[in-house]
Amino acid sequence: MENKFFKKDYSLLYDVIYSKKNYKAEANLISQIIKKFHTPNIKILDIGCGTGEHTLELLKKGYKVTGIDFSNEMLKIAKKKLLSNKLYSNNLFNLNAYDVNKLEVKFNVILMMFNVIGYLDDVHFFFEKLKDCLEPNALVFFDYWSEKAVKKNPPKTTKKEFLYKDFKATRISKGKIIKNKVKVDLILNIIKENKTKSFDETHNVGFYDIRSLVKTIQKLGYKKKNIGLNKFEKIINSKSQWEKFCLLKYEKKKIFSTKS
Ligand SMILES: C[S@@+](CC[C@H](N)C(=O)[O-])C[C@H]1O[C@@H](n2cnc3c(N)ncnc32)[C@H](O)[C@@H]1O
Repeated sequence: MENKFFKKDYSLLYDVIYSKKNYKAEANLISQIIKKFHTPNIKILDIGCGTGEHTLELLKKGYKVTGIDFSNEMLKIAKKKLLSNKLYSNNLFNLNAYDVNKLEVKFNVILMMFNVIGYLDDVHFFFEKLKDCLEPNALVFFDYWSEKAVKKNPPKTTKKEFLYKDFKATRISKGKIIKNKVKVDLILNIIKENKTKSFDETHNVGFYDIRSLVKTIQKLGYKKKNIGLNKFEKIINSKSQWEKFCLLKYEKKKIFSTKS
């Protein structure tokens, strides 16, 4: 399967670029939310698990976690990470989110963390497929870029430098709104021993008006839960403040038989 984003070079830099992201604090908050709704003995699916940070933190807490991602390169890093933490890595699969039903397992909690939903073009189709993997009252937790926030604070060109053990990396990010997406052109340079290696990726990331998104999927049985997710927005602490969080509960309707 060929993915357009998160190829080898970018995947190898991913954990360096996001080294300040507080995955541990996020996993703690996710665990607090889970405990409000479920007993600890539940199954979690981390869709778009990437380099496996949430998967790792939740496994450490004793949850049963499966991860899927369509980037084999990101998964390779996740697998190494789990193994180096003496955890099994046979719970990570190279799978497109649209094929989630191929897992043939049902989960109590679905995570799509760090804007995985922004990479999905057909959200309705995805949530339709996801139903096959959901236990009754399953939770779906995700973050997304808010349309209102993106339009209020439009994308800019940014340049960031990252220092790592024996190399320096720079990332230039140029964002542009095109219809309901931000087209992000990334140029990355890795400078090691006075030699520079450059590569680029373009990420087309969707933003959402959460009310319309929820409206399109509520007929499938998903209901939005308003439980004050502002703690998440605080720990994310991004300058753009585009990121918002959403919790859905899958409230499968009972089918009443007409037979007497
Ligand atoms: C911004 S990264 C987030 C990774 C991880 N969840 C985190 O919090 O660091 C988005 C991830 O979603 C994955 N992804 C995007 N579209 C996908 C799809 N259709 N199916 C599976 N994975 C997908 C990418 O490969 C990437 O690893």
